[in-house]
Amino acid sequence: MANERISTGISGLDKMLNGGLPPKQNVLITGGPGTGKTSFCMQFLYQGAQDGEKGLFISLEEKPERIIENCVVAFPGWTGFKDHIKKKNINVTKIDKWTYEQFIDTITTYVSQFKTTRCVIDSLSVMELYFDKPHEYRKRLFDMMTYLSGMECTTLITHELPTGETSKMKYPLAQYVADGVIALYKLEKQEKRVRALEVIKMRGTDHSTDLVPIAITSSGVRVYEGEKVY
Ligand SMILES: Nc1ncnc2c1ncn2[C@@H]1O[C@H](COP(=O)(O)OP(=O)(O)O)[C@@H](O)[C@H]1O
Ligand SMILES: [Mg+2]
Repeated sequence: MANERISTGISGLDKMLNGGLPPKQNVLITGGPGTGKTSFCMQFLYQGAQDGEKGLFISLEEKPERIIENCVVAFPGWTGFKDHIKKKNINVTKIDKWTYEQFIDTITTYVSQFKTTRCVIDSLSVMELYFDKPHEYRKRLFDMMTYLSGMECTTLITHELPTGETSKMKYPLAQYVADGVIALYKLEKQEKRVRALEVIKMRGTDHSTDLVPIAITSSGVRVYEGEKVY
């Protein structure tokens, strides 16, 4: 279907994307610590599970039990979440010592064997730590994106970036090789910090380029599309 879209689980963001993510893309979710990257990604899997799709969350950092427990506590509005975990509609797994082969093996098994259509990798920044030489990381990143592009799944990949830098950013290679980039921010507004989101790029669709306010609530991330941050 030409106009098929994948709902992110965040209605305001779906609107900014003209209906949702184009299918089978690899999308980076960038932002500083505590900007909501992990929550955003789990919400994407929760939305999928609610719609009958299977999801895989590959953690390179936190233990699966901790990630699940944090979401259960933080997002009581996701009433079906525990059940989706129990029924394995959402699978959370940890790769302890990252190797490219183990990563490919995990994702291939879930996508081809268990018909998983939504994947999350949390985070690319941790993966990068496993490489001594920058060129090895860049090559693997490229291999990984190419491999993921050939798979029947839509993948979100988190990437840590310093908070607050919207203009003076040096764009990392990952942002060029991904199909899409969504940035989460905690910005200074007078003495306060406000949460915001921006779609930096998304192949295969027109999208809003507005910087919009967001909130993290007991039902997850909310995007106030059409509102102003400043
Ligand atoms: N129910 C909630 N209400 C308000 N804020 C929340 C809620 N749950 C989580 N948060 C906020 O979300 C942040 C964590 O988001 P997380 O997804 O772990 O970010 P990241 O992965 O970018 O580090 C916390 O710092 C907390 O401020
Ligand atoms: Mg996180």
